[in-house]
Amino acid sequence: MGERSPLRTYGRIKARPIKPRQAARLETLLPKLRVPERPFDPRALMPQASATWLEIGFGGGEHLAAQAAAHPDVLVIGAEPFQNGVASALRHIDEQHLANVRIHDGDARALLARLPDASLERVFILFPDPWPKTRHHKRRLVQADAVAELARVLRPGGALRFASDWADYVDWALERFLANPDFRWTAARASDWRTPPADHVTTRYEAKRLGDCAPVFLEFLRV
Ligand SMILES: C[S@@+](CC[C@H](N)C(=O)[O-])C[C@H]1O[C@@H](n2cnc3c(N)ncnc32)[C@H](O)[C@@H]1O
Repeated sequence: MGERSPLRTYGRIKARPIKPRQAARLETLLPKLRVPERPFDPRALMPQASATWLEIGFGGGEHLAAQAAAHPDVLVIGAEPFQNGVASALRHIDEQHLANVRIHDGDARALLARLPDASLERVFILFPDPWPKTRHHKRRLVQADAVAELARVLRPGGALRFASDWADYVDWALERFLANPDFRWTAARASDWRTPPADHVTTRYEAKRLGDCAPVFLEFLRV
Protein backbone atom coordinates (compact mmCIF):
# COMPACT_ATOMS: atom_id res chain seq x y z
CA MET A 1 0.00 0.00 0.00
CA GLY A 2 1.30 3.55 0.67
CA GLU A 3 3.39 4.19 -2.42
CA ARG A 4 1.33 1.62 -4.34
CA SER A 5 -1.99 3.40 -3.63
CA PRO A 6 -1.15 7.09 -3.65
CA LEU A 7 -4.76 8.34 -3.76
CA ARG A 8 -4.96 10.95 -1.01
CA THR A 9 -7.31 10.13 1.87
CA TYR A 10 -6.71 13.38 3.82
CA GLY A 11 -7.54 17.02 3.19
CA ARG A 12 -4.73 19.38 4.12
CA ILE A 13 -1.35 18.70 5.70
CA LYS A 14 -0.86 22.25 6.99
CA ALA A 15 -3.34 24.93 8.06
CA ARG A 16 -2.59 27.79 10.46
CA PRO A 17 1.02 28.82 10.91
CA ILE A 18 2.76 26.72 13.53
CA LYS A 19 3.72 28.68 16.67
CA PRO A 20 7.45 28.86 17.52
CA ARG A 21 7.07 26.57 20.57
CA GLN A 22 5.25 23.98 18.45
CA ALA A 23 7.83 24.34 15.67
CA ALA A 24 10.57 23.71 18.22
CA ARG A 25 8.88 20.47 19.28
CA LEU A 26 8.58 19.40 15.65
CA GLU A 27 12.31 19.96 15.31
CA THR A 28 13.52 18.41 18.55
CA LEU A 29 10.89 16.06 19.99
CA LEU A 30 9.47 14.57 16.78
CA PRO A 31 12.78 13.05 15.59
CA LYS A 32 13.01 11.23 18.95
CA LEU A 33 9.50 9.83 18.67
CA ARG A 34 9.33 9.10 14.96
CA VAL A 35 9.00 5.42 14.06
CA PRO A 36 11.65 4.01 11.69
CA GLU A 37 11.17 4.70 7.99
CA ARG A 38 11.88 1.06 7.11
CA PRO A 39 10.23 -2.22 8.12
CA PHE A 40 10.41 -2.57 11.91
CA ASP A 41 8.99 -4.57 14.78
CA PRO A 42 7.18 -2.25 17.20
CA ARG A 43 8.20 -4.49 20.12
CA ALA A 44 11.77 -3.31 19.59
CA LEU A 45 10.69 0.32 20.22
CA MET A 46 9.51 -0.44 23.76
CA PRO A 47 10.55 -3.97 24.75
CA GLN A 48 8.76 -3.80 28.11
CA ALA A 49 5.40 -2.91 26.47
CA SER A 50 2.55 -5.33 27.10
CA ALA A 51 0.93 -4.47 23.74
CA THR A 52 1.12 -2.12 20.75
CA TRP A 53 -1.84 0.03 19.72
CA LEU A 54 -2.17 2.22 16.64
CA GLU A 55 -4.34 5.28 16.12
CA ILE A 56 -4.82 6.24 12.49
CA GLY A 57 -5.54 9.93 11.85
CA PHE A 58 -5.20 11.16 15.44
CA GLY A 59 -6.02 14.79 14.52
CA GLY A 60 -5.00 16.96 17.49
CA GLY A 61 -3.82 13.91 19.46
CA GLU A 62 -6.16 14.28 22.45
CA HIS A 63 -7.40 10.69 22.23
CA LEU A 64 -3.89 9.39 21.50
CA ALA A 65 -2.45 11.13 24.57
CA ALA A 66 -5.35 10.16 26.84
CA GLN A 67 -5.07 6.48 25.89
CA ALA A 68 -1.29 6.55 26.36
CA ALA A 69 -1.67 8.21 29.77
CA ALA A 70 -4.30 5.67 30.85
CA HIS A 71 -2.18 2.73 29.63
CA PRO A 72 1.48 3.49 30.37
CA ASP A 73 2.39 -0.17 29.79
CA VAL A 74 1.14 -0.01 26.18
CA LEU A 75 3.13 1.36 23.26
CA VAL A 76 0.76 3.72 21.42
CA ILE A 77 1.72 4.63 17.85
CA GLY A 78 -0.08 7.48 16.15
CA ALA A 79 -0.19 8.17 12.42
CA GLU A 80 -1.19 11.59 11.09
CA PRO A 81 0.00 13.59 8.06
CA PHE A 82 -1.51 16.92 9.23
CA GLN A 83 1.43 18.93 10.62
CA ASN A 84 -0.61 21.14 12.94
CA GLY A 85 -2.15 17.97 14.39
CA VAL A 86 1.27 16.40 14.91
CA ALA A 87 2.46 19.60 16.62
CA SER A 88 -0.60 19.55 18.88
CA ALA A 89 -0.02 15.88 19.77
CA LEU A 90 3.62 16.64 20.59
CA ARG A 91 2.43 19.32 23.03
CA HIS A 92 0.23 16.78 24.84
CA ILE A 93 3.05 14.21 24.89
CA ASP A 94 5.51 16.78 26.23
CA GLU A 95 3.20 18.35 28.82
CA GLN A 96 2.00 14.96 30.11
CA HIS A 97 5.52 13.48 30.03
CA LEU A 98 4.31 10.49 28.04
CA ALA A 99 7.07 7.95 27.41
CA ASN A 100 4.99 5.38 25.53
CA VAL A 101 3.97 7.25 22.35
CA ARG A 102 5.64 7.04 18.93
CA ILE A 103 4.64 9.00 15.84
CA HIS A 104 4.42 8.42 12.12
CA ASP A 105 3.94 11.90 10.64
CA GLY A 106 2.58 10.71 7.34
CA ASP A 107 0.11 8.41 5.64
CA ALA A 108 -0.86 5.50 7.88
CA ARG A 109 -0.93 3.20 4.87
CA ALA A 110 2.83 3.59 4.42
CA LEU A 111 3.30 2.74 8.10
CA LEU A 112 1.09 -0.36 7.88
CA ALA A 113 3.22 -1.64 5.01
CA ARG A 114 6.28 -1.53 7.29
CA LEU A 115 4.72 -3.49 10.14
CA PRO A 116 5.14 -7.26 10.56
CA ASP A 117 2.12 -9.57 10.51
CA ALA A 118 0.19 -9.77 13.80
CA SER A 119 2.21 -6.98 15.43
CA LEU A 120 -0.67 -4.86 16.82
CA GLU A 121 -3.23 -5.56 19.54
CA ARG A 122 -5.53 -2.61 18.84
CA VAL A 123 -6.28 -0.11 16.08
CA PHE A 124 -8.38 3.06 16.36
CA ILE A 125 -9.85 4.82 13.33
CA LEU A 126 -11.87 7.64 14.86
CA PHE A 127 -13.91 10.01 12.74
CA PRO A 128 -11.88 9.59 9.54
CA ASP A 129 -12.34 12.13 6.75
CA PRO A 130 -15.86 11.33 5.50
CA TRP A 131 -15.47 12.25 1.83
CA PRO A 132 -19.28 12.44 1.52
CA LYS A 133 -19.50 13.11 -2.22
CA THR A 134 -19.88 9.93 -4.28
CA ARG A 135 -17.02 10.87 -6.60
CA HIS A 136 -14.74 11.13 -3.52
CA HIS A 137 -15.69 7.82 -1.91
CA LYS A 138 -12.54 6.28 -3.38
CA ARG A 139 -10.55 8.60 -1.08
CA ARG A 140 -12.02 7.07 2.05
CA LEU A 141 -9.44 5.37 4.23
CA VAL A 142 -11.59 2.28 4.66
CA GLN A 143 -11.25 0.32 1.42
CA ALA A 144 -11.07 -3.45 0.90
CA ASP A 145 -7.27 -3.39 0.50
CA ALA A 146 -6.78 -1.27 3.64
CA VAL A 147 -9.07 -3.61 5.60
CA ALA A 148 -6.99 -6.60 4.41
CA GLU A 149 -3.81 -4.81 5.48
CA LEU A 150 -5.32 -4.03 8.90
CA ALA A 151 -6.22 -7.72 9.27
CA ARG A 152 -2.63 -8.64 8.46
CA VAL A 153 -1.06 -6.38 11.09
CA LEU A 154 -3.59 -7.15 13.84
CA ARG A 155 -2.93 -10.18 15.95
CA PRO A 156 -5.82 -12.71 16.11
CA GLY A 157 -7.85 -11.70 19.15
CA GLY A 158 -6.91 -8.06 18.56
CA ALA A 159 -9.51 -5.31 18.19
CA LEU A 160 -10.28 -2.43 15.86
CA ARG A 161 -12.53 0.51 16.68
CA PHE A 162 -14.07 2.60 13.89
CA ALA A 163 -16.17 5.65 14.71
CA SER A 164 -17.98 8.11 12.49
CA ASP A 165 -20.90 10.50 12.56
CA TRP A 166 -21.58 10.15 8.84
CA ALA A 167 -24.27 7.49 8.35
CA ASP A 168 -23.15 6.60 4.85
CA TYR A 169 -19.52 6.08 5.98
CA VAL A 170 -20.70 3.87 8.85
CA ASP A 171 -22.58 1.66 6.36
CA TRP A 172 -19.62 1.75 3.99
CA ALA A 173 -17.14 0.70 6.69
CA LEU A 174 -19.42 -2.00 8.08
CA GLU A 175 -19.86 -3.48 4.62
CA ARG A 176 -16.11 -3.60 4.02
CA PHE A 177 -15.13 -5.01 7.40
CA LEU A 178 -17.86 -7.65 7.24
CA ALA A 179 -16.74 -8.62 3.73
CA ASN A 180 -13.38 -9.62 5.22
CA PRO A 181 -13.60 -13.00 7.00
CA ASP A 182 -10.76 -11.98 9.35
CA PHE A 183 -13.03 -9.49 11.11
CA ARG A 184 -16.07 -10.10 13.26
CA TRP A 185 -18.36 -7.26 14.37
CA THR A 186 -18.88 -7.66 18.11
CA ALA A 187 -22.18 -5.74 18.47
CA ALA A 188 -25.13 -7.64 19.88
CA ARG A 189 -27.61 -4.78 20.31
CA ALA A 190 -28.09 -1.20 19.08
CA SER A 191 -26.70 0.31 22.28
CA ASP A 192 -23.36 -1.36 21.44
CA TRP A 193 -22.82 0.99 18.48
CA ARG A 194 -24.82 3.97 19.72
CA THR A 195 -23.16 4.31 23.13
CA PRO A 196 -19.53 5.41 23.25
CA PRO A 197 -17.39 2.53 24.60
CA ALA A 198 -16.42 2.91 28.27
CA ASP A 199 -12.80 3.67 27.43
CA HIS A 200 -13.59 6.14 24.65
CA VAL A 201 -12.20 9.66 24.90
CA THR A 202 -14.17 12.29 22.97
CA THR A 203 -12.15 13.63 20.06
CA ARG A 204 -11.98 17.19 18.83
CA TYR A 205 -13.67 16.38 15.53
CA GLU A 206 -16.37 14.32 17.25
CA ALA A 207 -17.20 17.27 19.52
CA LYS A 208 -17.83 19.48 16.49
CA ARG A 209 -20.77 17.30 15.42
CA LEU A 210 -20.23 17.99 11.73
CA GLY A 211 -21.74 14.74 10.51
CA ASP A 212 -25.30 13.80 9.66
CA CYS A 213 -25.92 11.31 12.50
CA ALA A 214 -25.02 10.77 16.13
CA PRO A 215 -21.56 9.19 16.57
CA VAL A 216 -21.53 5.46 15.84
CA PHE A 217 -18.86 3.14 17.25
CA LEU A 218 -18.10 -0.12 15.46
CA GLU A 219 -15.93 -2.61 17.35
CA PHE A 220 -14.37 -5.42 15.35
CA LEU A 221 -12.52 -8.45 16.58
CA ARG A 222 -9.65 -9.86 14.53
CA VAL A 223 -10.63 -13.53 14.49
C1 LIG B 1 -11.78 14.29 10.31
S1 LIG B 1 -10.20 14.23 11.02
C2 LIG B 1 -10.46 13.46 12.62
C3 LIG B 1 -9.28 13.59 13.52
C4 LIG B 1 -9.42 12.89 14.89
N1 LIG B 1 -9.47 11.45 14.76
C5 LIG B 1 -10.63 13.40 15.63
O1 LIG B 1 -11.62 12.63 15.71
O2 LIG B 1 -10.60 14.56 16.10
C6 LIG B 1 -9.44 12.90 10.12
C7 LIG B 1 -7.94 12.88 10.27
O3 LIG B 1 -7.41 11.74 9.60
C8 LIG B 1 -6.20 12.11 8.99
N2 LIG B 1 -5.94 11.17 7.89
C9 LIG B 1 -6.58 11.08 6.71
N3 LIG B 1 -6.04 10.14 5.94
C10 LIG B 1 -5.02 9.60 6.67
C11 LIG B 1 -4.08 8.58 6.41
N4 LIG B 1 -4.05 7.95 5.23
N5 LIG B 1 -3.20 8.28 7.37
C12 LIG B 1 -3.21 8.92 8.56
N6 LIG B 1 -4.07 9.90 8.86
C13 LIG B 1 -4.97 10.23 7.92
C14 LIG B 1 -6.44 13.53 8.53
O4 LIG B 1 -5.24 14.27 8.32
C15 LIG B 1 -7.26 14.11 9.67
O5 LIG B 1 -6.47 14.72 10.66
